Amino acid sequence: MSSQKVITFANQKGGVGKSTISALVAQFLSRRNVKTLLISVDSQSNSPSWLGIKNNQGKEFADLVIQDLEIEDVVHPVNEYLDVIPNSIRGNTAELILAGMSNRELLLKRKLKKTDYEIVILDVAPSIALGTANAILASTHIFLVSLLEEASLRGLATISSKINELKENELPVADITGIILNRTNISLRSGHGKMCMQMVERNYNGLVLDNYLLQNIDLTNACARGEFLEDYNPQSKAIDNATSLTNEILERL
Ligand SMILES: Nc1ncnc2c1ncn2[C@@H]1O[C@H](COP(=O)(O)OP(=O)(O)OP(=O)(O)O)[C@@H](O)[C@H]1O
Ligand SMILES: [Mg+2]
Repeated sequence: MSSQKVITFANQKGGVGKSTISALVAQFLSRRNVKTLLISVDSQSNSPSWLGIKNNQGKEFADLVIQDLEIEDVVHPVNEYLDVIPNSIRGNTAELILAGMSNRELLLKRKLKKTDYEIVILDVAPSIALGTANAILASTHIFLVSLLEEASLRGLATISSKINELKENELPVADITGIILNRTNISLRSGHGKMCMQMVERNYNGLVLDNYLLQNIDLTNACARGEFLEDYNPQSKAIDNATSLTNEILERL
């Protein structure tokens, strides 16, 4: 379906909030009755488990490659509007098998074309390997996620180079739609954090979203319990923050 939006949240650096933002956006979209699919292209499978889908039973991401199954064969419903595809250590085997296949970078794009989800969210590993390349090439929109610290900014630069490399190989790749900063309420207390903010604004002029994801313990706890944020704590300040961030992401699509 041509109007389908496919979003990857990426950074080569781990622990920056890719899975947290993927899970938040997916749950908020489903509560607005937007037909959404979240795929963990990461063998850690964090975002599916945070949405209540553990990866220890049933079909999963690896089976798209190993058994050449279609998306509809491996989805797990979270609610009426949200499906997820979990992952596991088998995802690493699948990536090795995929490496030996022709047209290996475009497998996910081909499989997604046959679906009619309005929005697909791809939660990738902290890596620029084949799984991430598949996600980037399947995406209509790429958001980079970062903390205000030197190592995360280097991860942004690595992903940006990977995107350019794919373009140079004449593969169809979207431009970066936006940069999402996480935990700014903590990092902007330090001089290093402020310096990183200047660097990211200079290097990614106009791309940094106005809304940041703020550090909030409710996010960690809701994820750990596999509950939607609004169900875990209906009074949480993180709800307004995540709503504004989700709205701005949607405005950019
Ligand atoms: N704004 C936040 N407030 C509170 N906790 C957060 C926030 N952002 C992320 N976390 C927590 O930090 C940890 C790392 O976040 P997350 O797993 O989303 O990062 P990631 O980029 O997906 O990591 P990886 O690259 O390993 O997949 C998680 O335990 C998550 O719950
Ligand atoms: Mg993650």
